Amino acid sequence: MRISSMILGVAALVSSAAASTFTPAKPPAVPLAVRSPYLNAWLQGDSGCILPGSWPKFWTAQTQGWQGFVAVDGAVYNWMGAAPGPGTVNQVSLEYTSTRSVFIFDVGGKVTLTVTFLSPVYPEDLARQSQQFSYIDVKARSSDRASHSVQIYLDVSAELASGDLSQVINWDSGNSSAVSYLKFFRASQQEFAESGEIASWGNWYLATRAFNGMTWQIGADTVVRGQFVTNKTLKNTKDTNFRAVNDNWPVFAFSHDLGTVGDTFVERVFSLGIVQDQVINFAGTNGLAAVPGLWSSYYSDDISAVVAFYNDYPYAATHSANLDVQIKEDSLNAAGDDYATITTLTVRQTFGALQFAGTPSKPYIFLKEISSNSDIQTVDVIFPAYPILMYLNATMGRYILDPLFENQESGAYPNAWAEHDLGTFPNAKGYPAGNDEPMPLEECGNMIIMTLAYAQRTGDNAYLKAHYPKLSQWAQFLVEESLIPANQLSTDDFAGTLVNQTNLAIKGIIGLRAMSEIAQRTGNNDTFGSIAADYLQKWKGLAINTAANPPHTTLSYGDNSSHGLLYNIYADKLLGLHFIDQSIYDMQSAFYPTVALQYAVPLDTRHTWTKSDWEMFAAAVSSPSTRDMFIGKLAGWINNTSTNRAMTDLFDAATGGYPANGPTFVARPVMGGTFALLALPR
Ligand SMILES: *[C@@H]1O[C@H](CO)[C@@H](O)[C@H](O)[C@H]1NC(C)=O
Ligand SMILES: *[C@@H]1O[C@H](CO)[C@@H](O)[C@H](O)[C@H]1NC(C)=O
Ligand SMILES: *[C@@H]1O[C@H](CO)[C@@H](O)[C@H](O)[C@H]1NC(C)=O
Ligand SMILES: *[C@@H]1O[C@H](CO)[C@@H](O)[C@H](O)[C@H]1NC(C)=O
Ligand SMILES: *[C@@H]1O[C@H](CO)[C@@H](O)[C@H](O)[C@H]1NC(C)=O
Ligand SMILES: *[C@@H]1O[C@H](CO)[C@@H](O)[C@H](O)[C@H]1NC(C)=O
Ligand SMILES: *[C@@H]1O[C@H](CO)[C@@H](O)[C@H](O)[C@H]1NC(C)=O
Ligand SMILES: *[C@@H]1O[C@H](CO)[C@@H](O)[C@H](O)[C@H]1NC(C)=O
Repeated sequence: MRISSMILGVAALVSSAAASTFTPAKPPAVPLAVRSPYLNAWLQGDSGCILPGSWPKFWTAQTQGWQGFVAVDGAVYNWMGAAPGPGTVNQVSLEYTSTRSVFIFDVGGKVTLTVTFLSPVYPEDLARQSQQFSYIDVKARSSDRASHSVQIYLDVSAELASGDLSQVINWDSGNSSAVSYLKFFRASQQEFAESGEIASWGNWYLATRAFNGMTWQIGADTVVRGQFVTNKTLKNTKDTNFRAVNDNWPVFAFSHDLGTVGDTFVERVFSLGIVQDQVINFAGTNGLAAVPGLWSSYYSDDISAVVAFYNDYPYAATHSANLDVQIKEDSLNAAGDDYATITTLTVRQTFGALQFAGTPSKPYIFLKEISSNSDIQTVDVIFPAYPILMYLNATMGRYILDPLFENQESGAYPNAWAEHDLGTFPNAKGYPAGNDEPMPLEECGNMIIMTLAYAQRTGDNAYLKAHYPKLSQWAQFLVEESLIPANQLSTDDFAGTLVNQTNLAIKGIIGLRAMSEIAQRTGNNDTFGSIAADYLQKWKGLAINTAANPPHTTLSYGDNSSHGLLYNIYADKLLGLHFIDQSIYDMQSAFYPTVALQYAVPLDTRHTWTKSDWEMFAAAVSSPSTRDMFIGKLAGWINNTSTNRAMTDLFDAATGGYPANGPTFVARPVMGGTFALLALPR
């Protein structure tokens, strides 16, 4: 009895020292600083989601040297990064919310260290949202009732500032309003150029409060980190030898001496991010021109922006806590815990693909497709992301659609259908030769549906009026092409072209029904409603295998053995059109569970692959039990997938792993589509 309880006690100690808990789930990757396409750092799942000993990675999986140490009574431990030397703290837990990743570490049984990575989201506040910065909040308290001497350390390497590691980096340091900052940037600034997806222009800043006991240093990684490890303080000096990123790796470091720490937390906050004057090269109404970062209308220069963001931390923390609660509660109320596990993981990923640009009187949101070729303003990537924008603040719909309208209304796009994208981020030059990736039916439907969804939620019928000529041009294309779709790509272009796609046809037909609504809202003659009604009747005759048990829509007309997710009927509910018969929703709800695999319903019969954004579109318009099946499977996937980078939307529904062609769709903003349930009109 005594011996076995002793053994149990030892086992419990060992396991508590080894395992971290994960709340609400263990994600494929943990967002660390994810605020824009260039501030996009993650802890990948191949670390086991254990931060001590692991380098943060850019969304491409490129290492971003970012090192954290803590010293307790003279003993130094590593809490982030893979620099050689000190042993690691023990990670006790990770919790993620919509805006925060919170790690709790045990430091030698003496101190609890809590590190919060906060990337705020401000759906209603352009000034605050326009900054490409994140917070790191580090706080320590005693965990054994004794007092301890505690120093903390944080550095970043120049890897953040250049994807080409042979580029020379320059640096500087300074103070403003009791905020100290370390600045670094490429000597050769190349506006609107990237290397390995990392911006080749702009200034990076690491900042903190200039408390007593704060020290800083810029120098070689081994020198600066070695200085902290041996002396627990830095030298307030900078190396004067400007050099390449990978030449004795310059790092930019701060340390805080927290003094003697007892049982109340002592807290220090850091901010990290990039400032760029011009952010997008855009062919708009008046031709190609550089668009300024929206931040520059609100802050007079880099340092004002850095200081304002840093000093705003108390507001950011409160605002973010409120937004976290709102999203969690709304998700719980809509469909329970599993749904909140999903939505809360996707918020930073979605906003991390957006660049806020322009001026307060003419703001733009530019979207980077991220991993799938990094196209800019791709209409069928905005479309799946759109639910989160409609849920959080529908005005953002206008900011993201405007660049597409302006480019096409300037006459710079020759095709009769809607443009697919505007180029490769950050160059939105459009396609004057009309040679964009053609998805004609898909994008005409998407543009009309998204424009109406925006106008319904904001009452902005003037927007519909202003763009009526383009909208009706696209609607005319749908009149000609939507019922019998030609051989073409849909948004799921990895599956190739197909003729007579059932799901694509219904998008076009709903687009026509939406155009009828737009005509009515703008006092135009509605020639579209009757055509939409006629097409829907005919579609029902072509799209359904009525003899199957249970019956279901097919992937393409007449291919009776095929099936697919009919996710485009979601738009009928998003727009409150009451156009599609309830019997069709019911039929699909009864069918999906019969073809579900372990982690999802396959997208269609060509593969066992699926797309989690479309799973959530289908879930949002399914019966409660089928909805819960979709959601339960996706939450299980999040917690158990073998994929290990920022949430991929494309995976194998049977294995939960990447499809055969690997991690091609990671970190994409389409995951905003998980808000499909919450974007529906109440
Ligand atoms: C996640 O997986 C772990 C290990 O399989 C399990 O213990 C835990 O309950 C799961 N959590 C959720 C939210 O599914
Ligand atoms: C939406 O955002 C705009 C700024 O873009 C703001 O003026 C407006 O108040 C916000 N609306 C809501 C409902 O938060
Ligand atoms: C801030 O100013 C003080 C006083 O001039 C100086 O000692 C310190 O090194 C400065 N900090 C940085 C980060 O440059
Ligand atoms: C070591 O730290 C002490 C303060 O703790 C400081 O006075 C001293 O200058 C430091 N030495 C070096 C070599 O940095
Ligand atoms: C597409 O469907 C229509 C209606 O069933 C049919 O007439 C046409 O032959 C189909 N096209 C092809 C290429 O199969
Ligand atoms: C609508 O149609 C009527 C009759 O065809 C025509 O007189 C009127 O000008 C049209 N209105 C608009 C706004 O096109
Ligand atoms: C497909 O199924 C329908 C009933 O839904 C049937 O009328 C049609 O003949 C079938 N087509 C083929 C090629 O078997
Ligand atoms: C998690 O993954 C393991 C290994 O692939 C599998 O055996 C298990 O069934 C999965 N659990 C869930 C809840 O999907």
